[in-house]
Amino acid sequence: MTARPDASLIAALERSHLHPLWDRYKRITPVAPQAKDAPMHWRWRDIEPFTSRAASEVGIEDVERRALILANPAFGGETVTTHNLIGAFTVLEPGDKAVPHRHTAAAIRFSTRAEGAVTIVNGRRCEMYEGDLVLTPPMCWHGHINEGTRRTVWFDAANMPAICMLDASFFEPGMRQDERFWDVGAEGSAEYRFPGDEARRALAGAPRAADGARTHRYTKNGSSVMPTLDLYLKHIDEPTRRMRATWNAICLVVSGEGRSAVGDKVFEWSRHDVFTIPHWTWAAHEPRGGAAELFIVTDRAIYERLDLLREELQ
Ligand SMILES: [Fe+2]
Repeated sequence: MTARPDASLIAALERSHLHPLWDRYKRITPVAPQAKDAPMHWRWRDIEPFTSRAASEVGIEDVERRALILANPAFGGETVTTHNLIGAFTVLEPGDKAVPHRHTAAAIRFSTRAEGAVTIVNGRRCEMYEGDLVLTPPMCWHGHINEGTRRTVWFDAANMPAICMLDASFFEPGMRQDERFWDVGAEGSAEYRFPGDEARRALAGAPRAADGARTHRYTKNGSSVMPTLDLYLKHIDEPTRRMRATWNAICLVVSGEGRSAVGDKVFEWSRHDVFTIPHWTWAAHEPRGGAAELFIVTDRAIYERLDLLREELQ
């Protein structure tokens, strides 16, 4: 192979910490997004035994949170579920308190089996009945307590990977022994808690989205619930149209069974399974044996605000 005529110039430029655009513009400006991660599926039946083990083998007083985070190996051992997002399940035993803290990352919880648990957000008590959504917006103090008599489990999602990529993560631990944090009278306001029965009612009356699925978007003042997280509940009663978008999604199966074709993968899912739809990856869903419901956490709001939203349907 003959060396390119500008090889010695390029070498000299690199030694001087200058890069020529002309030999690398394709790397600098990819023609389309290329997700690092293949779509991934975690089955609840595989996760559940670990929730039991974590509850019995790890004391809550020894750890910040007893959360099991879904990690896609495509990220090389980083704790990332899909680009920009993490999803997890948190387990509390009766009486457990997950100590208060706050951070610049935005987070949410969706109650799968958390009745008896309470999340306190900025002095507000948010009950966690099945299907309830609790927001912990950036820099809001939050802690969790299981006031019930049985183990509670909920689904968490947050955007730590996006915040860390921007290197804008701040974290402040609260005080474990601060009884004032837990001693709050104020019930959860509409600011932080979205009751499951209201969401289900809204979904029943929601219009079909472009993909054909009845879709409820959780909103605040007509916009996404947080500046960086956008949340949806989908009722899948027939095959949806194939769609791809510049944003990323983590899907939690709330009820029912079905199948999703995501990229070149096909996932057969059932209740409380979780799967990802990485950005710019074609995805379609279909129910099996009746309708199914998906709770979908996305970073769509980031792309919308940066004017980077692209959505395609087939
Ligand atoms: Fe947190």
